[in-house]
Amino acid sequence: MTDLHTSHTGFSRRSLFARGAGAAAAATLAGGLGTTAHAAPVRAVSVPFYGSHQAGITTDQQRNCVLAAFDVTTDRAGLKKLLDDWTALGDALSKGEPAPAGDTGISEGMSAERFTMTVGFGPSLFDGRFGPLNRPAKLAPLPHFAGDACDPGASGGDLFVQMCADEPQVLTHALIQLRAVSQGKAKLRWTENGFVIPPKDTAAPRNLLGVPDGTANPTDSARDAVVWCDPSGEPGYMAGGCYAVYRRIRLDLPHWMATPTPEKDAAIGRRFDGSPLTAPNGAQHATPDYPRLPNGSHVKEMHPHTMFRRGYNYDKGYEGGLLFMSFNRHPSQFIDAQHQLTRSDKLGRYMMPTGSGIYAIRGGVGAGGSFADGLF
Ligand code: HEM
Repeated sequence: MTDLHTSHTGFSRRSLFARGAGAAAAATLAGGLGTTAHAAPVRAVSVPFYGSHQAGITTDQQRNCVLAAFDVTTDRAGLKKLLDDWTALGDALSKGEPAPAGDTGISEGMSAERFTMTVGFGPSLFDGRFGPLNRPAKLAPLPHFAGDACDPGASGGDLFVQMCADEPQVLTHALIQLRAVSQGKAKLRWTENGFVIPPKDTAAPRNLLGVPDGTANPTDSARDAVVWCDPSGEPGYMAGGCYAVYRRIRLDLPHWMATPTPEKDAAIGRRFDGSPLTAPNGAQHATPDYPRLPNGSHVKEMHPHTMFRRGYNYDKGYEGGLLFMSFNRHPSQFIDAQHQLTRSDKLGRYMMPTGSGIYAIRGGVGAGGSFADGLF
């Protein structure tokens, strides 16, 4: 757990305190959020923006996300200014404060809702348009994978941003402010909205197949070992950073719904309750006996491809699926797994990747610093 009891700063968005609603309101809020002898622990409402890693990776997953990619349309100096402005915006919204360059008021009265903003650099940022930039050592476009039907307009981008929060309107506000501050410097290339519902009775949130997703994700030091990149050979700003892979994976839900349950279980290697097929029903926390799982089951084929997955469901009405996100110390973690998936994974029959991207996620920004630090 990374952000329980951290900071309650920023609970009250501007108006309550800035307009002097006063001590009574403050006391109410403090009483409502703090822990008392009788109250259950509650989540902090703001996640620190500055730190050795960017927020939004190991942060306990928020309920909603907006993912977006931008193409930069300005010059070298404009790129620096853009990243400085994104930094100021990320800092303010993480504290539940108004956007520094003028606020629309869309999230007036709301808290920060554990807003996080995570910024990445796409391979195309380093194509020479901005003069020499310090390029992450392992950043290269993803190869084509069998079965990919990726729309270029829904893939790639010079800059990537993942914004997460527990309220969708906070994210609508954030994207509008981000676009406003980017005007004349960067053009929105694609954007997606996602959601997950925190699990009540399972080890992980359910995806649109109805199955808990994320059960086998590494935690704590095991997670650190697979996420944070080796800084040797990397530009300094990649210390504490990683490589994010994004895939928009449309799911063939009618096909899945028509599939008999035993076949569904064999395609995943786990049951609807999340329990591995090699353990009793309900034993969702049991480690699978991987060699004994059905051949071709997703869990068997993906093991032991270690990576940290932090995806969100998406639903456009006419289609739905997964906004797959994985954070890797090296891009090969994802690439090797994806090749394996296309070769032998039965769950692959229900997936159609329609968007794709890889982005270098720089290390965290120090207080007073900028996403641009070390890039130029
Ligand atoms: C819409 C697409 C996908 C769905 C619905 C899906 C669903 C699942 C489910 C239900 C599990 C078992 C529970 C868990 O441990 O999380 C799982 C495990 C896993 N998935 Fe996926 N997945 C998808 C795409 C992918 C992709 C594209 C990759 C990587 C290329 C991947 C890699 C993994 C890994 C590494 C595991 C853990 C295996 C282990 O137990 O060691 N998944 N996935």
